[in-house]
Amino acid sequence: MLRTNTCGELRIENIGKTVVLSGWVQKVRDKGGMLWIDLRDRYGITQLILEEGKSDAAVLSVARSLSREDVISAEGPVIERSAKNANITTGDIEIQVLKLTLLNKSKTPPFTIEDDTDGGDELRMKYRYLDIRRTPVRTALELRHRLSIETRKYLDSFNFLEVETPYLIKSTPEGARDFVVPSRMNPGEFYALPQSPQTFKQLLMVAGIDRYYQIVKCFRDEDLRADRQPEFTQIDCEMSFVTQEDVLQTFEGLITHLFSKVLNVQLPAFPRMTYADAMRYYGCDKPDIRFDMQFVEMNSIVKEKGFPVFDSAELVVGINAAGCSEYTRKQLDALTDFVKKPQIGATGLVYLKCNSDGTYKSSVDKFYAPEELAKWAAAFNAKAGDLILVLAGGADKTRKALSELRLHVAEELGLRDPKVFKPLWVLDFPLLEWNEDEKRFFAMHHPFTSPLPDDVHYMSTDPGKVRANAYDMVINGVELGGGSVRIHDRTLQKQMFSILGFTDEEAQNQFGFLMNAFEYGAPPHAGLAFGFDRMCAIFSGKDSIRDFIAFPKNNSGRDVMIDSPSVIDSKQLVDLGLTINK
Ligand code: AMO
Repeated sequence: MLRTNTCGELRIENIGKTVVLSGWVQKVRDKGGMLWIDLRDRYGITQLILEEGKSDAAVLSVARSLSREDVISAEGPVIERSAKNANITTGDIEIQVLKLTLLNKSKTPPFTIEDDTDGGDELRMKYRYLDIRRTPVRTALELRHRLSIETRKYLDSFNFLEVETPYLIKSTPEGARDFVVPSRMNPGEFYALPQSPQTFKQLLMVAGIDRYYQIVKCFRDEDLRADRQPEFTQIDCEMSFVTQEDVLQTFEGLITHLFSKVLNVQLPAFPRMTYADAMRYYGCDKPDIRFDMQFVEMNSIVKEKGFPVFDSAELVVGINAAGCSEYTRKQLDALTDFVKKPQIGATGLVYLKCNSDGTYKSSVDKFYAPEELAKWAAAFNAKAGDLILVLAGGADKTRKALSELRLHVAEELGLRDPKVFKPLWVLDFPLLEWNEDEKRFFAMHHPFTSPLPDDVHYMSTDPGKVRANAYDMVINGVELGGGSVRIHDRTLQKQMFSILGFTDEEAQNQFGFLMNAFEYGAPPHAGLAFGFDRMCAIFSGKDSIRDFIAFPKNNSGRDVMIDSPSVIDSKQLVDLGLTINK
């Protein structure tokens, strides 16, 4: 037997038992007559001890030849440690090694296998199998596993059926770019990898599988960020014979269950906010509501006082950084530099300090008398000691910039505690988005999302005004998931495609399979999908999803470990009909 126990398992009550442990050498300390080895496996670290006189010379000699990451097996009795280590669970005991086998020698690893490693990102990705030996990465994968198990348990208990849908599907023009796969048997034709199983889950509803879910890989050829990978995982769900309210309650229930089971955190009922309010009060559709700092629009109190920047602006809007009136010149300059960064795009920042002695100091004192500044303070409900930060310009751009400033200030003030969780539903998104370059509407969510019943009449008169029966779940400013009540009526679906600029023929070519299915008794249905990698990151209070994926891609979409993508052999190209055989 190569082991009787794991390296994380033995305790004081096991003293006297003879055990065999196997694992990797974390560290060897040789003090002459005594030698200690920290032995590591997935479950923990156990200290091995070898003493001259107690262990054989041959065993000691093997021990002295060991270096980091060698794979060994050690046998001996569990004994009590004289110097206990309260930092590890096995810290009360050690193994007195009587037999020692070197199972495999390791090269010196390119970085240390420690919680705080000296390895940079690329190196860690190249040797990801070594990186996964590190506790933070391994625990990230363990968390992912727990979340998937608890998700399955919860959904199973509500009668959801896990059904697999195909990965080789058909390319569609909406959404992000597709990854395509050439078909050898059908030269010149391509499959696409699914961006999501959206149409298949709707077909499963027509098929009578009234509660479907799948923990499923999705593929999108889009620019990568910390929270985006080209292949990522969704918890994809769909239900028949439900209203929006049923969906919100079912999946609020799932998330509440996961927080309770996995983190032992009890979430309150989720607040709900319309998209219009999210944009108005937070400048974005996924507000972080761990802190307040709502936007206050100031047009009615600042215009026509002779300050040209405000007079010419479409929108003047600000936030109250409570308790920050003592910010120094340097700190205010840093905030100004922040908003002027090209990716934020504001032209400048106006401030108003509400001093503790009741006076006001602003960067535009020249244009605004103290009684005018008092009106600003009143609009923000500001108290002595507060600092009001104001941006002005085009409405959309200014809201976006202020939203970034709000997050930045909150970060500086420590208001974005990763251990505090504030979920939120955002509702009533616009159904369509106008694209000025292509001079046509695009579906904001996807073309199968239904309009809110109250807005259906605008579909033919003013499509831009239609609100969607769609919802996003946001936690701590991250879009965790989203979905909608679907169109299940063939005529409405046809109208939607027509608004999106599809001719009847194009719609039939691309989505005929779905529209035809709708002629055979499609039930009313609705659903949503969660980003599973994002869920893991949120549960851990992290921004990047990379460490929650065993083998992720880097920011250029490369797997640096297996060196992919890569060129393929010319014979393969010929087989696929991608080049001409000369
Ligand atoms: P959507 O496109 O909003 O909806 O995706 C659902 C969730 O998937 C996550 N996500 C991603 N995670 C990592 N990397 C990416 N590149 C990436 N793209 C999306 C997000 C997002 O909220 N079929 C619909 C769902 C539905 O209507 O039921 C869909 O795919 O967390």
